[in-house]
Amino acid sequence: MKPCIALTFTLALGLTASFPLLADDPETAAKEVEQAIHLQPNMENGRKVYLICSVCHQPEGWGTVDGAYPQIAGQYASVTIKQLADIRVRNRDNPTMLPFTMPKILTPQDIADVSAYIERFPMDPHNGMGPGTDLELGKRLYDENCAECHGDRGQGVPEKHMPMLQGQHYRYLLRQFEWIRDGKRRNADREMVKQIQGLSNREVAAIMDYTSRLTPPLEMVAIPGYVNPDFPSFWRTRLPTDKPVERVAER
Ligand code: HEC
Ligand code: HEC
Repeated sequence: MKPCIALTFTLALGLTASFPLLADDPETAAKEVEQAIHLQPNMENGRKVYLICSVCHQPEGWGTVDGAYPQIAGQYASVTIKQLADIRVRNRDNPTMLPFTMPKILTPQDIADVSAYIERFPMDPHNGMGPGTDLELGKRLYDENCAECHGDRGQGVPEKHMPMLQGQHYRYLLRQFEWIRDGKRRNADREMVKQIQGLSNREVAAIMDYTSRLTPPLEMVAIPGYVNPDFPSFWRTRLPTDKPVERVAER
């Protein structure tokens, strides 16, 4: 375990012990979303709040290419706000991050600020991708099943909280997709859950591989060597991008 992450965990345990956790309550989550979406964001406070997030998501918001930590850079503020609310009321199981989303740490204003701050980040030019062996199948199934909601390039729809998928790490996409399909994300989109039930593991892996290769428009991607100027001396960890990714077994 990296020293700074170890520190974060220690801190997390302390915080979990001192603040009572909220109940599993979608109504509270919905209210927080409503509140945060209508607040005027303050970028300076967003930067301050992001200091906590940077420990795991990295100062650039790119997460890790192995998908353990998702890229959050460039994501629509409306989507980030909804996910923070869902994580906080445990509609999404995220024990690692949960303590950092507690109301005493993140007010609705903080949520609005940090989400707007992250939305402006340029995105990872080298996100984690799949093995690249089944892309034709992936494209066909993506166009048939996913494009109507997530857009033909995975660009999402901010007004409807439809996440941008383009540029996301392959393994993260795969994990979240399975969790949505299997009901582990309890406030996910009902239509999506219905639509994706019949897909085999091979099909799912192919779609995610294709999706991980849907690159964001050039102006949204970071230039080579980019570091977040707000965190110039942060200790950065990057995993190798050419790590082979095993195939998911066929069902
Ligand atoms: C201790 C580590 C840690 C910290 C600190 C942390 N996160 Fe996370 N975050 C994670 C992990 C791990 C996941 C992915 C969990 C999963 O696979 O479901 C995640 C997921 C997310 C997601 C969901 C992304 C998506 O595409 O749905 C958002 C948004 C997010 N984090 C934002 C933040 C913000 C904003 C902060 C700071 C206030 C923060 N995180 C702090 C570990 C952390
Ligand atoms: C009916 C609309 C709809 C369809 C069809 C749909 N999705 Fe989604 N998807 C959503 C919404 C809305 C969310 C956000 C759910 C939430 O808030 O937790 C989502 C979330 C996701 C996520 C999680 C993103 C993240 O950052 O956490 C992935 C991955 C995903 N969809 C992939 C797909 C793929 C691949 C397909 C096609 C096989 C698909 N979706 C079809 C609406 C849809």
